[in-house]
Amino acid sequence: MAYKNEWWKTGVIYQVYPRSFQDSNGDGIGDLPGIMQRLDYLQWLGVDAIWVSPCFPSPMVDFGYDISDHTDIDPIFGTLADMDALIEAVHARGIKIILDYVPAHTSDQHPWFIESRASRDNPKRDWYVWRDPAPDGGPPNNWLCRFDGETVWEWDEKTGQYYMHYFFKAQPDLNWHNPELRATMLNILRFWFDRGIDGLRVDACYRAIKDPLFRDNPPNHDWHDGMDPSLKMIEKYTKNLPAVHQFNRWVRAVADEYDERMLIGELYLSTEQVVTHYGQNDEFHLPLNSGIFSTPWYAEAMHGLVDHYESSLPEGAWPNWVIGNHDKHRFATHVGKAQARVGMMLLLTLRGTPTLYYGDEIGMADVEIPLDEIQDPWEKSAPNLGLGRDPERTPMQWDSSPNASFCQAEVSPWMRLSDDYKQVNVASSRDKPYSMLSLTQAIIQLRRATAALSIGDYYSLYAPEGIFAYRRLQDDEHIIIALNFTPYPKTWILPVEMRGVSTILLSTLLDRQGEKLGESLDLRGDEGVILGRCS
Ligand code: NOJ
Repeated sequence: MAYKNEWWKTGVIYQVYPRSFQDSNGDGIGDLPGIMQRLDYLQWLGVDAIWVSPCFPSPMVDFGYDISDHTDIDPIFGTLADMDALIEAVHARGIKIILDYVPAHTSDQHPWFIESRASRDNPKRDWYVWRDPAPDGGPPNNWLCRFDGETVWEWDEKTGQYYMHYFFKAQPDLNWHNPELRATMLNILRFWFDRGIDGLRVDACYRAIKDPLFRDNPPNHDWHDGMDPSLKMIEKYTKNLPAVHQFNRWVRAVADEYDERMLIGELYLSTEQVVTHYGQNDEFHLPLNSGIFSTPWYAEAMHGLVDHYESSLPEGAWPNWVIGNHDKHRFATHVGKAQARVGMMLLLTLRGTPTLYYGDEIGMADVEIPLDEIQDPWEKSAPNLGLGRDPERTPMQWDSSPNASFCQAEVSPWMRLSDDYKQVNVASSRDKPYSMLSLTQAIIQLRRATAALSIGDYYSLYAPEGIFAYRRLQDDEHIIIALNFTPYPKTWILPVEMRGVSTILLSTLLDRQGEKLGESLDLRGDEGVILGRCS
């Protein structure tokens, strides 16, 4: 098949949030041996790659995105030997493994930062972003911290300067303009590629490079009370600076030293901006396309998004799609349980690499976390704005036994489980032919077996209000997807060439397989179908 050496084009990626996947050692926190125990499941589901969110040594202020050692594993999750064993075990099953790479900041407990803050003339001083106070003694400029909307500048009494932290003050920003820091950080990529991993998801990459002039951001006149406090300023000088593309090329050049390695760039930008991060095929293989998160859930809006994204892609660039991750509210909560099936069909039938977030395949929803159990420091620093990420990070629901078998019955899980775990879990869903899990697995299987679905071209089709329909085409293989974004029945007169020759390959309700169609397609409310040509 085409793309032989580009597994990431045909592959389905599955994000494992390691704290919440499977506990193996009785501390109520998921770990690497726990992931090992669940590889049979992932293989059965049919995913091609797992992306394991940060598992490196960390004080866990930001749940692992505050790294204090880039080349080891936090004891909570296991050991380096456990990671080696995991890499070997997934590869033995033909599955790839992607880890996180966090270039924009470290933990304030990282030895580099401890040295950097020790004195102004420490050799590592310039590895971080240090600035003198403004003439009035205050912070050097008006940049705001993402997590509390206060200044990004933290005063260091001992050395009489401010350091920058775009995220928590425990996450000082790195200075990629410093050549030694740059070389050291790039060697960390080599460390993990040498260990055999297949790809890296590059965290907050569009924030790696800071404005060398440290100019003030302009005020956001649309901001009002009740909005995310960090949006008071327009982020003109704190994200996506032109020099970020140079950063992208640095990391890509390292990936290109190896065969078949892949880089995903984490970006939350407009479509026009996202697509610039492919570069001339010398930046990210997959710059994160977060369009589905930011587009209202109705057919016409989604049609517009997909067409716009497809037509914006540079020559040869491969698309990607995502409906959930550890920073976004659960998709089943966002669009409702019935539409979540339609969303799953959309994710897995669009042209491009899909990433599934653990638990979305069984329809896990956000869990309301009582005030005294809140753990995400974002919720703690900007409360009651719906920004907290605990609700989408709850333990995986494996079966109906106590703690859903995420951890032993007598152990307290690090985060409460959803009350619905007795009904919504892997074991019971596997047994039910009409479950969300059965649907997810069936679409993945069909995708794998159908070149048009995995690598075929995309063309949107005219369809009545409420339906988003598109064609996927590869050689003479011809597939149509029709998704009803409403709870009402809809009828669609099929395109001429599909009339009388179409058959339903799969419905989101899993009950019409093999049904032959005449001139039109009747969709039930909240139903999506995949059509093929009768043979
Ligand atoms: C993006 C990560 O996905 C998020 O969880 C984290 O808080 C920030 N980057 C800071 O590293």
